[in-house]
Amino acid sequence: MNRLIKELWDNYMEITPSVAKIKKVLGLENDVLFADHIAYRSINVDSCGIERISRPFLDIGYVIKKTYYFEQKKLRAIHLENDFSKKAPKIFISELMLEKCSLFLRRVLLNAFQCFHFSEENILTSGRKWKIKYKVYKELEKESKYAAWLYIHGIRVNHFTLNVSQLENYTIENLCNKLIASGISLNKSGGIIKGSESKGLKQASTMADKIQVQFDDLYNEINIPSCYVEFAQRYLVEKKQFKGFLVESANKIFESTNRISI
Ligand code: NI
Repeated sequence: MNRLIKELWDNYMEITPSVAKIKKVLGLENDVLFADHIAYRSINVDSCGIERISRPFLDIGYVIKKTYYFEQKKLRAIHLENDFSKKAPKIFISELMLEKCSLFLRRVLLNAFQCFHFSEENILTSGRKWKIKYKVYKELEKESKYAAWLYIHGIRVNHFTLNVSQLENYTIENLCNKLIASGISLNKSGGIIKGSESKGLKQASTMADKIQVQFDDLYNEINIPSCYVEFAQRYLVEKKQFKGFLVESANKIFESTNRISI
């Protein structure tokens, strides 16, 4: 694993205990298998939007391959690939288009994220640097669950993705069955398995882990969704392995950090 990717993995593991459980259930030893892609969430401001988050990846040889739009969720996204290292994970970065959101949401997130500066080197693991209020979180959640997640977690990896195509003993179907039988909760929005072989990609994901979060306006800590694990099996399309993403599937995968199981 590249040094930067390892740093992101360690940061992700801090709030994603499911990874250890999944590795145990599936008998996986190598963390490098979780390298189909890594995903980030952000807002469309210069200091921490898609362009800013891409930069450390562009610096180590990644190139931008494709742009995606999620109209209903008011998101734009890109994916990057590393042409020098075929084993390097793809990077999927999305951002909330603030101009399409309410004044309340815009004000909260702009206030929170204003502490980011161009010169900051470790933006990829910077997390949250502001105080949070449960009242505000609940209000954000009503408008955009994506925004509510960002308000709690700031800029950090949202998920790593197990490359199912590299596993000898599993297809995505029997892998999901095994996880369900082991009591791991999967995202059912749009069906457990999203996509198809003919489209080149099948995906599934866990429902995000929950971590105890301390709010400024509450005495007790509250359980809030953190990160999830995704599973991807890729197929050949016109004799080439499909490397992109399917908007319809990704749209459902975003819901893996919803608070209520779906
Ligand atoms: Ni993903």
